[in-house]
Amino acid sequence: PPLPAFDYTVFGGTGDLALRKLLPALYLRDRAGQVAAGSRIIAVSRSALDPAEYRAKADAAVRRHVAADELDEELIARFLERLDYVSVDATSSEGWSDLAGRFEGRGDGPVRIFYLATSPSLFGPICDRLKGAGLVTPAARVVLEKPIGRDLDSARAINAQVGAVFAESQIYRIDHYLGKETVQNLLALRFANSLFEPLWNANHIDHVQITVAETVGVEGRGDYYDHSGALRDMVQNHLLQLVCLVGMESPVSLAQEAVRDEKLKVLRSLKPMGVEDVGACTVRGQYRAGAVTGGAVPAYADEPGIPAGSGTETFVALKLEIANWRWAGVPFYLRTGKRLPAKMSEIVIQFRPIPHSIFPQSAGELQANRLIVRLQPDESIRLHLMAKEPGPGGMRLRQAPLNLSFAETFGSRFPDAYERLLMDVVRGNPTLFMRRDEVEAAWAWAETILEGWKSRRDQPKPYISGTWGPSQAIALIERDGRTWHEDELPNAAF
Ligand code: BG6
Repeated sequence: PPLPAFDYTVFGGTGDLALRKLLPALYLRDRAGQVAAGSRIIAVSRSALDPAEYRAKADAAVRRHVAADELDEELIARFLERLDYVSVDATSSEGWSDLAGRFEGRGDGPVRIFYLATSPSLFGPICDRLKGAGLVTPAARVVLEKPIGRDLDSARAINAQVGAVFAESQIYRIDHYLGKETVQNLLALRFANSLFEPLWNANHIDHVQITVAETVGVEGRGDYYDHSGALRDMVQNHLLQLVCLVGMESPVSLAQEAVRDEKLKVLRSLKPMGVEDVGACTVRGQYRAGAVTGGAVPAYADEPGIPAGSGTETFVALKLEIANWRWAGVPFYLRTGKRLPAKMSEIVIQFRPIPHSIFPQSAGELQANRLIVRLQPDESIRLHLMAKEPGPGGMRLRQAPLNLSFAETFGSRFPDAYERLLMDVVRGNPTLFMRRDEVEAAWAWAETILEGWKSRRDQPKPYISGTWGPSQAIALIERDGRTWHEDELPNAAF
Protein backbone atom coordinates (compact mmCIF):
# COMPACT_ATOMS: atom_id res chain seq x y z
CA PRO A 1 0.00 0.00 0.00
CA PRO A 2 1.23 3.53 -0.71
CA LEU A 3 2.74 5.27 2.29
CA PRO A 4 1.25 8.50 3.62
CA ALA A 5 2.93 11.84 2.94
CA PHE A 6 5.36 12.96 5.65
CA ASP A 7 7.23 15.92 7.06
CA TYR A 8 10.61 14.60 8.20
CA THR A 9 12.38 17.22 10.31
CA VAL A 10 16.00 16.23 10.73
CA PHE A 11 17.89 17.86 13.59
CA GLY A 12 21.64 17.63 12.99
CA GLY A 13 20.78 18.16 9.31
CA THR A 14 24.31 19.19 8.34
CA GLY A 15 25.92 16.36 10.31
CA ASP A 16 27.67 13.27 9.07
CA LEU A 17 24.76 10.90 9.67
CA ALA A 18 22.23 13.08 7.85
CA LEU A 19 24.44 13.63 4.83
CA ARG A 20 25.96 10.18 4.61
CA LYS A 21 22.98 8.00 5.52
CA LEU A 22 19.62 9.75 5.95
CA LEU A 23 19.43 11.85 2.79
CA PRO A 24 20.75 9.08 0.52
CA ALA A 25 18.25 6.65 2.09
CA LEU A 26 15.34 9.06 1.58
CA TYR A 27 16.45 9.71 -2.00
CA LEU A 28 16.53 5.96 -2.69
CA ARG A 29 13.04 5.48 -1.22
CA ASP A 30 11.85 8.42 -3.31
CA ARG A 31 13.38 6.77 -6.35
CA ALA A 32 11.54 3.56 -5.45
CA GLY A 33 8.26 5.50 -5.52
CA GLN A 34 7.63 5.31 -1.78
CA VAL A 35 7.63 9.01 -1.05
CA ALA A 36 4.14 10.42 -1.47
CA ALA A 37 3.59 13.72 -3.24
CA GLY A 38 3.68 16.67 -0.85
CA SER A 39 6.23 15.04 1.50
CA ARG A 40 8.93 17.33 2.86
CA ILE A 41 12.30 16.98 4.51
CA ILE A 42 13.16 19.90 6.73
CA ALA A 43 16.80 19.92 7.75
CA VAL A 44 17.60 21.80 10.91
CA SER A 45 20.92 22.80 12.42
CA ARG A 46 22.67 25.77 13.93
CA SER A 47 24.54 26.70 10.75
CA ALA A 48 23.34 29.87 9.05
CA LEU A 49 22.49 28.44 5.65
CA ASP A 50 19.64 29.28 3.35
CA PRO A 51 17.57 26.49 1.82
CA ALA A 52 19.36 26.81 -1.54
CA GLU A 53 22.75 26.37 0.14
CA TYR A 54 21.48 23.35 2.01
CA ARG A 55 20.11 21.82 -1.19
CA ALA A 56 23.54 22.18 -2.76
CA LYS A 57 25.04 20.27 0.20
CA ALA A 58 22.36 17.61 -0.06
CA ASP A 59 22.89 17.33 -3.80
CA ALA A 60 26.60 16.67 -3.27
CA ALA A 61 25.90 14.18 -0.46
CA VAL A 62 23.43 12.16 -2.53
CA ARG A 63 25.78 12.01 -5.51
CA ARG A 64 28.61 10.95 -3.27
CA HIS A 65 26.85 8.26 -1.25
CA VAL A 66 24.44 6.70 -3.73
CA ALA A 67 25.70 4.20 -6.31
CA ALA A 68 26.19 5.76 -9.75
CA ASP A 69 23.61 3.52 -11.43
CA GLU A 70 20.97 4.72 -8.96
CA LEU A 71 21.49 8.41 -9.67
CA ASP A 72 19.01 10.00 -12.01
CA GLU A 73 19.01 13.75 -12.76
CA GLU A 74 15.24 14.13 -12.82
CA LEU A 75 14.78 12.18 -9.61
CA ILE A 76 17.53 14.12 -7.84
CA ALA A 77 15.89 17.39 -8.88
CA ARG A 78 12.51 16.19 -7.61
CA PHE A 79 14.07 15.02 -4.35
CA LEU A 80 15.88 18.31 -3.76
CA GLU A 81 12.60 20.17 -4.18
CA ARG A 82 11.27 18.36 -1.15
CA LEU A 83 14.10 19.76 0.98
CA ASP A 84 13.90 22.80 3.17
CA TYR A 85 16.29 24.18 5.76
CA VAL A 86 15.79 26.13 8.98
CA SER A 87 18.56 27.42 11.22
CA VAL A 88 17.64 26.62 14.82
CA ASP A 89 19.63 26.67 18.01
CA ALA A 90 18.59 23.69 20.11
CA THR A 91 19.82 25.34 23.29
CA SER A 92 18.17 28.75 22.91
CA SER A 93 14.91 30.13 21.58
CA GLU A 94 16.55 31.15 18.32
CA GLY A 95 14.93 29.86 15.15
CA TRP A 96 12.04 27.97 16.73
CA SER A 97 9.36 30.30 15.49
CA ASP A 98 10.78 29.95 11.96
CA LEU A 99 10.51 26.21 12.31
CA ALA A 100 6.97 26.45 13.64
CA GLY A 101 6.15 28.67 10.65
CA ARG A 102 7.02 25.80 8.32
CA PHE A 103 4.14 23.79 9.79
CA GLU A 104 1.45 26.42 9.46
CA GLY A 105 -1.44 25.04 7.49
CA ARG A 106 -0.03 21.48 7.46
CA GLY A 107 -2.59 20.37 10.04
CA ASP A 108 -2.79 16.67 10.78
CA GLY A 109 -2.21 15.68 7.15
CA PRO A 110 1.37 14.52 6.67
CA VAL A 111 2.96 12.22 9.21
CA ARG A 112 5.04 14.48 11.42
CA ILE A 113 8.43 13.06 12.29
CA PHE A 114 11.28 14.65 14.23
CA TYR A 115 14.57 12.83 13.70
CA LEU A 116 17.16 13.73 16.32
CA ALA A 117 20.53 13.02 14.71
CA THR A 118 22.31 15.09 17.34
CA SER A 119 24.27 14.52 20.50
CA PRO A 120 22.01 12.80 23.05
CA SER A 121 22.59 15.69 25.44
CA LEU A 122 20.29 17.70 23.13
CA PHE A 123 17.43 15.16 23.00
CA GLY A 124 15.72 16.52 26.10
CA PRO A 125 16.15 20.23 25.26
CA ILE A 126 14.96 19.70 21.67
CA CYS A 127 11.85 17.83 22.82
CA ASP A 128 11.02 20.60 25.30
CA ARG A 129 11.36 23.27 22.68
CA LEU A 130 9.34 21.29 20.14
CA LYS A 131 6.60 21.19 22.70
CA GLY A 132 7.02 24.88 23.53
CA ALA A 133 6.74 25.73 19.84
CA GLY A 134 3.44 23.81 19.69
CA LEU A 135 4.83 21.29 17.23
CA VAL A 136 4.14 18.08 19.15
CA THR A 137 0.81 16.73 17.94
CA PRO A 138 -0.61 13.47 19.37
CA ALA A 139 0.33 11.64 16.17
CA ALA A 140 3.85 13.13 15.89
CA ARG A 141 6.81 10.75 16.12
CA VAL A 142 10.33 11.27 17.35
CA VAL A 143 13.31 9.21 16.22
CA LEU A 144 16.35 8.97 18.51
CA GLU A 145 19.76 8.00 17.24
CA LYS A 146 22.10 6.09 19.46
CA PRO A 147 23.80 6.47 21.83
CA ILE A 148 20.92 6.80 24.26
CA GLY A 149 23.19 7.92 27.09
CA ARG A 150 26.54 6.55 28.21
CA ASP A 151 25.40 4.45 31.15
CA LEU A 152 22.17 3.39 32.83
CA ASP A 153 21.59 6.64 34.71
CA SER A 154 22.10 8.90 31.72
CA ALA A 155 19.94 6.60 29.54
CA ARG A 156 17.17 6.77 32.11
CA ALA A 157 17.46 10.54 32.33
CA ILE A 158 17.21 10.92 28.52
CA ASN A 159 14.30 8.49 28.33
CA ALA A 160 12.53 10.43 31.07
CA GLN A 161 13.11 13.80 29.37
CA VAL A 162 11.87 12.57 26.00
CA GLY A 163 9.10 10.63 27.71
CA ALA A 164 7.81 13.82 29.34
CA VAL A 165 6.98 15.15 25.86
CA PHE A 166 6.28 12.05 23.75
CA ALA A 167 4.39 8.89 24.69
CA GLU A 168 6.43 5.67 24.36
CA SER A 169 4.35 4.72 21.30
CA GLN A 170 5.59 7.91 19.58
CA ILE A 171 9.28 7.21 20.26
CA TYR A 172 11.45 5.31 17.74
CA ARG A 173 14.94 4.45 19.04
CA ILE A 174 17.06 3.42 16.10
CA ASP A 175 19.52 0.57 16.10
CA HIS A 176 20.39 0.45 12.44
CA TYR A 177 21.58 -3.17 12.71
CA LEU A 178 17.93 -4.17 13.00
CA GLY A 179 17.31 -2.67 9.57
CA LYS A 180 19.93 -4.83 7.89
CA GLU A 181 18.43 -7.45 5.58
CA THR A 182 20.39 -10.36 6.96
CA VAL A 183 19.63 -9.42 10.53
CA GLN A 184 15.93 -9.65 9.76
CA ASN A 185 16.73 -12.88 8.01
CA LEU A 186 17.67 -14.34 11.37
CA LEU A 187 13.96 -14.29 12.17
CA ALA A 188 13.18 -16.08 8.92
CA LEU A 189 15.95 -18.61 9.44
CA ARG A 190 14.82 -19.48 12.92
CA PHE A 191 11.06 -19.22 12.71
CA ALA A 192 10.20 -19.96 9.07
CA ASN A 193 12.10 -23.27 9.05
CA SER A 194 11.49 -26.33 11.14
CA LEU A 195 15.04 -27.60 10.74
CA PHE A 196 16.96 -25.51 13.21
CA GLU A 197 14.67 -24.64 16.08
CA PRO A 198 14.59 -28.11 17.69
CA LEU A 199 18.40 -27.96 17.84
CA TRP A 200 18.63 -24.32 18.90
CA ASN A 201 19.57 -24.82 22.54
CA ALA A 202 22.25 -25.91 24.96
CA ASN A 203 21.69 -29.60 24.22
CA HIS A 204 22.90 -29.21 20.66
CA ILE A 205 24.82 -25.96 20.45
CA ASP A 206 28.34 -25.81 21.83
CA HIS A 207 28.82 -22.06 21.54
CA VAL A 208 27.97 -18.97 19.49
CA GLN A 209 30.36 -16.41 18.02
CA ILE A 210 29.48 -12.92 16.88
CA THR A 211 32.08 -10.86 15.05
CA VAL A 212 31.53 -7.31 13.84
CA ALA A 213 34.80 -6.21 12.29
CA GLU A 214 35.49 -2.84 10.72
CA THR A 215 38.44 -1.53 8.75
CA VAL A 216 37.68 2.13 9.46
CA GLY A 217 39.18 4.07 12.34
CA VAL A 218 37.37 6.82 14.19
CA GLU A 219 36.78 8.77 10.96
CA GLY A 220 36.79 12.31 12.28
CA ARG A 221 34.43 11.38 15.12
CA GLY A 222 37.24 11.40 17.65
CA ASP A 223 35.49 13.66 20.06
CA TYR A 224 32.39 11.48 20.31
CA TYR A 225 34.27 8.21 20.10
CA ASP A 226 36.84 8.93 22.77
CA HIS A 227 34.04 9.45 25.29
CA SER A 228 32.39 6.29 24.14
CA GLY A 229 34.65 3.40 23.08
CA ALA A 230 33.74 0.11 21.45
CA LEU A 231 31.65 -1.28 24.31
CA ARG A 232 29.29 1.69 24.33
CA ASP A 233 29.46 2.33 20.58
CA MET A 234 28.90 -1.22 19.33
CA VAL A 235 28.38 -3.86 22.00
CA GLN A 236 25.69 -2.26 24.18
CA ASN A 237 23.49 -1.83 21.12
CA HIS A 238 24.31 -3.58 17.84
CA LEU A 239 25.97 -6.73 19.19
CA LEU A 240 23.46 -7.19 22.00
CA GLN A 241 20.63 -6.86 19.49
CA LEU A 242 22.21 -9.69 17.52
CA VAL A 243 22.51 -11.73 20.71
CA CYS A 244 18.79 -11.12 21.28
CA LEU A 245 17.76 -12.31 17.82
CA VAL A 246 19.88 -15.44 18.11
CA GLY A 247 18.89 -16.13 21.68
CA MET A 248 15.21 -15.22 21.98
CA GLU A 249 12.25 -17.55 22.28
CA SER A 250 9.74 -17.65 19.46
CA PRO A 251 7.61 -14.49 19.68
CA VAL A 252 3.87 -15.17 19.53
CA SER A 253 3.70 -13.11 16.34
CA LEU A 254 5.66 -10.48 14.49
CA ALA A 255 3.67 -7.76 16.20
CA GLN A 256 5.80 -5.01 17.63
CA GLU A 257 5.42 -5.78 21.33
CA ALA A 258 5.69 -9.54 20.82
CA VAL A 259 9.17 -9.35 19.30
CA ARG A 260 10.39 -6.71 21.70
CA ASP A 261 9.08 -8.61 24.73
CA GLU A 262 11.16 -11.64 23.73
CA LYS A 263 14.28 -9.60 23.14
CA LEU A 264 13.86 -7.97 26.52
CA LYS A 265 13.79 -11.37 28.21
CA VAL A 266 17.17 -12.21 26.69
CA LEU A 267 18.64 -8.92 27.89
CA ARG A 268 17.32 -9.56 31.35
CA SER A 269 18.84 -13.05 31.34
CA LEU A 270 22.37 -11.85 30.58
CA LYS A 271 24.55 -12.93 33.42
CA PRO A 272 25.94 -9.78 35.06
CA MET A 273 29.71 -9.66 35.18
CA GLY A 274 31.42 -9.30 38.53
CA VAL A 275 34.83 -7.68 38.73
CA GLU A 276 36.54 -11.05 38.43
CA ASP A 277 34.42 -12.10 35.45
CA VAL A 278 35.39 -8.85 33.78
CA GLY A 279 39.05 -9.78 34.23
CA ALA A 280 38.56 -13.29 32.90
CA CYS A 281 35.89 -12.79 30.24
CA THR A 282 36.59 -9.44 28.58
CA VAL A 283 39.45 -8.00 26.54
CA ARG A 284 39.81 -4.34 25.60
CA GLY A 285 42.13 -3.25 22.82
CA GLN A 286 43.30 -0.06 21.17
CA TYR A 287 44.82 0.11 17.70
CA ARG A 288 48.37 1.14 17.02
CA ALA A 289 49.70 2.27 13.64
CA GLY A 290 49.68 -0.38 10.94
CA ALA A 291 48.27 -1.14 7.52
CA VAL A 292 44.65 -1.88 6.66
CA THR A 293 43.64 -3.13 3.21
CA GLY A 294 47.00 -2.07 1.88
CA GLY A 295 47.21 1.49 3.24
CA ALA A 296 49.23 2.79 6.19
CA VAL A 297 47.07 4.12 9.03
CA PRO A 298 47.97 6.01 12.21
CA ALA A 299 47.56 4.86 15.79
CA TYR A 300 44.31 5.71 17.58
CA ALA A 301 46.28 8.02 19.87
CA ASP A 302 47.42 10.02 16.81
CA GLU A 303 43.95 10.45 15.29
CA PRO A 304 42.54 13.99 15.31
CA GLY A 305 40.66 14.85 18.48
CA ILE A 306 42.08 12.04 20.61
CA PRO A 307 43.77 13.24 23.80
CA ALA A 308 47.27 11.95 24.54
CA GLY A 309 47.24 8.84 26.69
CA SER A 310 43.57 8.06 25.98
CA GLY A 311 42.43 4.84 27.63
CA THR A 312 39.43 4.35 25.29
CA GLU A 313 39.02 0.92 23.71
CA THR A 314 38.61 0.50 19.95
CA PHE A 315 38.23 -3.27 20.27
CA VAL A 316 36.31 -5.52 22.64
CA ALA A 317 36.16 -9.29 22.88
CA LEU A 318 34.05 -10.90 25.55
CA LYS A 319 32.36 -14.05 26.63
CA LEU A 320 28.81 -13.79 27.91
CA GLU A 321 26.19 -16.19 29.10
CA ILE A 322 22.43 -16.10 28.81
CA ALA A 323 21.31 -17.56 32.09
CA ASN A 324 18.09 -19.35 31.19
CA TRP A 325 16.92 -22.87 30.38
CA ARG A 326 17.65 -22.67 26.68
CA TRP A 327 21.19 -21.33 26.93
CA ALA A 328 22.66 -22.16 30.34
CA GLY A 329 26.32 -23.11 29.91
CA VAL A 330 26.55 -22.03 26.25
CA PRO A 331 29.15 -19.28 25.86
CA PHE A 332 28.50 -16.45 23.43
CA TYR A 333 31.84 -15.02 22.27
CA LEU A 334 31.55 -11.49 20.93
CA ARG A 335 34.21 -9.35 19.30
CA THR A 336 34.16 -6.04 17.52
CA GLY A 337 36.81 -3.55 16.62
CA LYS A 338 38.06 -0.83 14.35
CA ARG A 339 41.09 -1.16 12.05
CA LEU A 340 40.69 -4.93 11.72
CA PRO A 341 41.74 -6.65 8.49
CA ALA A 342 38.27 -6.71 6.87
CA LYS A 343 34.80 -5.21 7.15
CA MET A 344 32.86 -8.28 8.05
CA SER A 345 30.03 -9.19 10.38
CA GLU A 346 28.96 -12.71 11.03
CA ILE A 347 27.27 -14.99 13.49
CA VAL A 348 28.58 -18.52 13.95
CA ILE A 349 26.49 -21.23 15.57
CA GLN A 350 28.77 -24.09 16.52
CA PHE A 351 26.88 -27.35 17.04
CA ARG A 352 28.10 -30.06 19.36
CA PRO A 353 30.15 -32.99 17.99
CA ILE A 354 28.45 -36.29 17.13
CA PRO A 355 28.14 -38.54 20.19
CA HIS A 356 30.01 -41.50 18.67
CA SER A 357 32.00 -42.06 15.50
CA ILE A 358 31.60 -45.17 13.36
CA PHE A 359 34.39 -44.05 11.02
CA PRO A 360 37.99 -45.29 11.10
CA GLN A 361 40.71 -42.77 11.89
CA SER A 362 41.80 -42.93 8.28
CA ALA A 363 38.51 -41.25 7.31
CA GLY A 364 39.92 -38.00 8.66
CA GLU A 365 38.93 -35.72 11.46
CA LEU A 366 35.23 -35.29 12.08
CA GLN A 367 34.26 -31.67 12.51
CA ALA A 368 31.06 -30.64 14.21
CA ASN A 369 28.43 -28.82 12.16
CA ARG A 370 28.64 -25.09 11.99
CA LEU A 371 26.09 -22.58 10.75
CA ILE A 372 27.48 -19.25 9.61
CA VAL A 373 25.25 -16.27 9.02
CA ARG A 374 27.21 -13.61 7.17
CA LEU A 375 25.58 -10.24 7.75
CA GLN A 376 27.94 -8.21 5.59
CA PRO A 377 29.47 -8.14 3.05
CA ASP A 378 28.39 -10.99 0.69
CA GLU A 379 25.29 -11.79 2.73
CA SER A 380 24.93 -15.52 3.04
CA ILE A 381 23.98 -18.45 5.22
CA ARG A 382 26.35 -21.40 5.15
CA LEU A 383 26.03 -24.74 6.84
CA HIS A 384 29.20 -26.74 7.25
CA LEU A 385 28.51 -30.45 6.92
CA MET A 386 30.70 -33.54 6.82
CA ALA A 387 30.61 -35.30 3.45
CA LYS A 388 32.34 -38.22 1.80
CA GLU A 389 35.04 -37.22 -0.63
CA PRO A 390 34.17 -38.72 -4.01
CA GLY A 391 36.39 -41.63 -5.07
CA PRO A 392 36.55 -45.40 -5.24
CA GLY A 393 38.99 -45.75 -2.35
CA GLY A 394 38.04 -45.98 1.29
CA MET A 395 35.83 -43.65 3.26
CA ARG A 396 37.42 -40.19 3.37
CA LEU A 397 35.41 -37.45 4.99
CA ARG A 398 35.67 -33.73 4.47
CA GLN A 399 33.84 -30.68 5.69
CA ALA A 400 31.87 -28.96 2.92
CA PRO A 401 29.48 -26.01 2.96
CA LEU A 402 25.87 -25.75 1.88
CA ASN A 403 25.87 -22.19 0.74
CA LEU A 404 22.92 -19.81 0.41
CA SER A 405 24.25 -16.62 -1.13
CA PHE A 406 21.57 -13.94 -1.06
CA ALA A 407 22.97 -12.07 -4.06
CA GLU A 408 23.05 -15.22 -6.19
CA THR A 409 19.68 -16.50 -5.03
CA PHE A 410 17.64 -13.33 -4.98
CA GLY A 411 19.70 -11.13 -7.27
CA SER A 412 18.02 -7.95 -6.10
CA ARG A 413 19.68 -4.90 -4.59
CA PHE A 414 20.07 -4.81 -0.83
CA PRO A 415 18.51 -1.68 0.59
CA ASP A 416 20.52 0.11 3.24
CA ALA A 417 19.27 -0.40 6.78
CA TYR A 418 18.22 3.25 7.03
CA GLU A 419 15.93 2.94 3.99
CA ARG A 420 13.88 0.33 5.76
CA LEU A 421 13.88 2.03 9.15
CA LEU A 422 13.08 5.55 7.95
CA MET A 423 10.02 4.19 6.14
CA ASP A 424 8.99 2.06 9.12
CA VAL A 425 8.63 5.31 11.07
CA VAL A 426 6.38 6.67 8.32
CA ARG A 427 4.38 3.44 8.42
CA GLY A 428 4.14 3.66 12.21
CA ASN A 429 5.77 0.26 12.72
CA PRO A 430 8.14 0.24 15.71
CA THR A 431 8.96 -3.52 15.68
CA LEU A 432 12.55 -2.91 14.58
CA PHE A 433 13.14 -0.11 17.08
CA MET A 434 14.22 -0.41 20.68
CA ARG A 435 11.82 0.08 23.48
CA ARG A 436 12.76 2.04 26.56
CA ASP A 437 13.04 -1.04 28.78
CA GLU A 438 15.27 -2.79 26.22
CA VAL A 439 17.74 0.08 26.10
CA GLU A 440 17.83 0.26 29.87
CA ALA A 441 18.28 -3.51 30.31
CA ALA A 442 21.15 -3.45 27.81
CA TRP A 443 22.81 -0.63 29.74
CA ALA A 444 22.28 -2.38 33.07
CA TRP A 445 24.34 -5.32 31.80
CA ALA A 446 26.95 -3.26 29.90
CA GLU A 447 27.46 -1.18 32.99
CA THR A 448 28.63 -4.21 34.96
CA ILE A 449 31.54 -4.41 32.49
CA LEU A 450 32.23 -0.67 32.53
CA GLU A 451 32.35 -0.75 36.31
CA GLY A 452 34.61 -3.80 36.33
CA TRP A 453 37.06 -2.08 33.96
CA LYS A 454 37.00 1.02 36.09
CA SER A 455 37.68 -0.74 39.35
CA ARG A 456 40.41 -2.88 37.77
CA ARG A 457 41.90 0.25 36.15
CA ASP A 458 41.96 -1.83 33.01
CA GLN A 459 44.04 -0.28 30.23
CA PRO A 460 43.35 -1.36 26.64
CA LYS A 461 45.84 -3.82 25.15
CA PRO A 462 47.57 -2.58 22.02
CA TYR A 463 47.01 -4.23 18.66
CA ILE A 464 48.52 -3.42 15.31
CA SER A 465 46.03 -1.99 12.81
CA GLY A 466 45.18 -4.64 10.25
CA THR A 467 45.27 -7.55 12.71
CA TRP A 468 42.42 -9.31 14.52
CA GLY A 469 42.90 -7.44 17.80
CA PRO A 470 45.12 -8.12 20.79
CA SER A 471 46.43 -11.65 21.25
CA GLN A 472 44.43 -11.82 24.52
CA ALA A 473 41.28 -11.97 22.39
CA ILE A 474 42.54 -15.19 20.82
CA ALA A 475 43.48 -16.51 24.24
CA LEU A 476 39.99 -15.71 25.54
CA ILE A 477 38.40 -18.34 23.30
CA GLU A 478 41.35 -20.73 23.02
CA ARG A 479 41.46 -21.16 26.79
CA ASP A 480 38.09 -22.85 26.38
CA GLY A 481 39.46 -25.16 23.66
CA ARG A 482 37.71 -23.24 20.87
CA THR A 483 38.86 -20.91 18.08
CA TRP A 484 37.46 -17.88 16.31
CA HIS A 485 35.91 -18.81 13.01
CA GLU A 486 38.19 -17.49 10.32
CA ASP A 487 37.80 -19.42 7.11
CA GLU A 488 37.62 -17.47 3.90
CA LEU A 489 38.94 -14.48 5.72
CA PRO A 490 41.93 -12.41 4.76
CA ASN A 491 45.26 -13.20 6.33
CA ALA A 492 44.89 -13.26 10.08
CA ALA A 493 48.57 -12.88 10.90
CA PHE A 494 49.64 -10.97 13.95
C1 BG6 B 1 27.64 2.90 14.33
C2 BG6 B 1 28.86 3.19 15.14
O1 BG6 B 1 26.53 2.76 15.16
O2 BG6 B 1 27.83 1.71 13.60
C3 BG6 B 1 30.08 3.32 14.25
O3 BG6 B 1 28.70 4.41 15.87
C4 BG6 B 1 30.21 2.09 13.36
O4 BG6 B 1 31.26 3.51 15.02
C5 BG6 B 1 28.89 1.77 12.66
O5 BG6 B 1 31.22 2.34 12.42
C6 BG6 B 1 28.97 0.43 11.94
O6 BG6 B 1 27.84 0.27 11.14
P1 BG6 B 1 27.87 -0.62 9.81
O7 BG6 B 1 26.47 -0.54 9.29
O8 BG6 B 1 28.88 0.04 8.91
O9 BG6 B 1 28.29 -1.99 10.22
